[in-house]
Amino acid sequence: MKKRIVLLPGDGIGREVIYSTKVILNVIAKRFHYTFEFIEMPIGGEAIDQYNIPLPEVTLEACQTADAVLLGAVGGPKWDSLPAPIRPEKGLLEIRKKLGLFANLRPVKSFSALLHASPLKEKFIKDSDLLIVRELTGGLYFGKPSERRNNDKAVVDTLYYERYEMERIVEKAFQFARSRKKHLTSVDKANVLESSKMWREIVKEKSKAYPDVTVEHMYVDAASMKLITNPSSFDVIVTENMFGDILSDEASVLTGSLGMLPSASIRSDSFGLYEPVHGSAPDIAGKGIANPLGMILSAALMLRFSFGLEMEATIIEKAVNHTLLDGYHTPDLHIENGRIVSTDELVARIADKVEEEV
Ligand code: NAI
Ligand code: MG
Repeated sequence: MKKRIVLLPGDGIGREVIYSTKVILNVIAKRFHYTFEFIEMPIGGEAIDQYNIPLPEVTLEACQTADAVLLGAVGGPKWDSLPAPIRPEKGLLEIRKKLGLFANLRPVKSFSALLHASPLKEKFIKDSDLLIVRELTGGLYFGKPSERRNNDKAVVDTLYYERYEMERIVEKAFQFARSRKKHLTSVDKANVLESSKMWREIVKEKSKAYPDVTVEHMYVDAASMKLITNPSSFDVIVTENMFGDILSDEASVLTGSLGMLPSASIRSDSFGLYEPVHGSAPDIAGKGIANPLGMILSAALMLRFSFGLEMEATIIEKAVNHTLLDGYHTPDLHIENGRIVSTDELVARIADKVEEEV
């Protein structure tokens, strides 16, 4: 197997976690005789310094011909005073849109070594293993009009969806549910919103093709409560853009640390863009202490979703889990009787575990 992977390190700890991840992918490639070709391109602040824009054409072109993209993080104080259209973060919105990535996936799984790292009680979060499938290109964040009216006496935002946009995300979610625990929770506000009524109709229509998947419809307010009181009752959650934005951040507290969380943005073919949920962490950049696990787990998602390498993805996830159970962690985490190590040492330990898992 030969794959072209574009690396977009970006800024701050984005660079550190990308290079850590490359180490782990090289271990996988060597062991299974795969060829991963890495092409590094600029995005965010780094791109602004070189090209005066956060997403240069060369970067976009490289992504368009790649099998998958790994993105670190962008932004930092150096670029904070720039106007919005040329800020580093603009590069992120643009790249997702231009690559047509309409589904954002946030798996949330509690690691046994970190159960007490969450502010939530252990008994609530134990056994939680869920996947949030969020629509990424439509809804309230993109609908027009979105403007002030009558000299600021009024304001309007628009929640707009085309039927096909809802259909394709719901279809994706059913496919994921089928490959997991076969339970899909569709989250909406169908008691109030017309868009949600149509969403619900579409979920009902689609469910006919997935008789093996049980479907539950839940209002977003109820879902947000249940997510922290009974997270293990969920398998796959599918929802529109804004509800998904809020629920996925809420769900992130289940795992205890921002540095642990992976994400994927995908479309109908196998291509995807994989990135940790955290930002460029300027406060710790360059110190060699960044937690690389969110990025490494994002690479595991790439193996699973873009390359169909389920076993190899699981090997990485197990290696991470076992390294944490051995007590090794970066300073952002807390493990009882654990040992704080640098990014590089943690990566070396995970690499060893990957070899052992194999
Ligand atoms: P942040 O996620 O960069 O950092 C928040 C806090 O968590 C900091 O104290 C940081 O040290 C810590 N942290 C985050 N990731 C960590 C990791 N892997 N290991 C150890 N500690 C970690 O969010 P913040 O501070 O709001 O933003 C910093 C910059 O990053 C800003 O320029 C922001 O715009 C950008 N940003 C970029 C994102 C992206 O590229 N996807 C997402 C969020 C923010
Ligand atoms: Mg958010």
